[in-house]
Amino acid sequence: MTNRPSWAPDDIDIERPAPARMYDFYLGGSHNFAADRALASQALEVWPDSPHIARANRGFLRRAVAFAISRGVDQFLDLGSGIPTSGNVHEIAHSLDPTARIVYVDNDPVAVAHSRNLLAGNERTAVVHADLRDTETVLAEALRRLDFDRPVAVLMFAVLHFVPDEDDPAAVVEAYHRATVPDSLLAVSHATNDFEPERLEEMEEVYRSATAGLTGRGHKEILDLLGPYEVVPPGLVSMIDWRPDPESGPDPLGGDARRYSAYAAVGMHQ
Ligand SMILES: C[S@@+](CC[C@H](N)C(=O)[O-])C[C@H]1O[C@@H](n2cnc3c(N)ncnc32)[C@H](O)[C@@H]1O
Repeated sequence: MTNRPSWAPDDIDIERPAPARMYDFYLGGSHNFAADRALASQALEVWPDSPHIARANRGFLRRAVAFAISRGVDQFLDLGSGIPTSGNVHEIAHSLDPTARIVYVDNDPVAVAHSRNLLAGNERTAVVHADLRDTETVLAEALRRLDFDRPVAVLMFAVLHFVPDEDDPAAVVEAYHRATVPDSLLAVSHATNDFEPERLEEMEEVYRSATAGLTGRGHKEILDLLGPYEVVPPGLVSMIDWRPDPESGPDPLGGDARRYSAYAAVGMHQ
């Protein structure tokens, strides 16, 4: 039996590894349990670059949020928002537009508890404990905090690959698209099996023991998921190649798309 820290919500099974807490571990966070660390260590054996991938994903998040603000979009629905770490969506958005509103959504109780702690008293943010596949509940909660008559940026960073094909991820994306007006945005990053299908399959095998399984997808499959949106330049590309920040230093993995094995895109609601 693992020691239960005081901050662990009562209703979670800390013996069952969760993607949110494994990702927190890759990023060097402390909101993970022994079971999360054990499975994350297995994942690191298969894919030692995982911490770099997690950091590159946060870099894409930063650039995509800044892009949204530059397009005048000041409302964000962050689906699968994760355990707060530095450079959260509200920090980036508020540094550029202090009036921006952000709704964070996650189905992991630890992610939700920490997000609520961090954001207590911040009136421009809200945290919803829900499954993004339950689009009706998520949208009802979001409607209470965001104005859906104005553009909203729907964010799905490193989360759609936790929605298996049998749960119809395309229909999920479509439901959020239907709920938003033209000029709204969708930002997506997604693991791909285009480069190293066998190693990606090993990662899927590792995540089978977690609360949510991993589904790597190919370029066309991911593009199909973005169906109703018009993908803005440079298109669906390796995560590090999406409008890279000219000020950031050399890429730690030499810009090798294979080692990242993740695509990113921003779509616009026409
Ligand atoms: C890899 S983390 C990414 C966190 C954050 N979006 C980022 O990019 O830094 C994936 C997050 O999605 C959440 N998640 C997975 N499936 C979900 C679902 N069906 N509904 C809501 N959240 C989900 C996990 O709990 C986890 O916090």
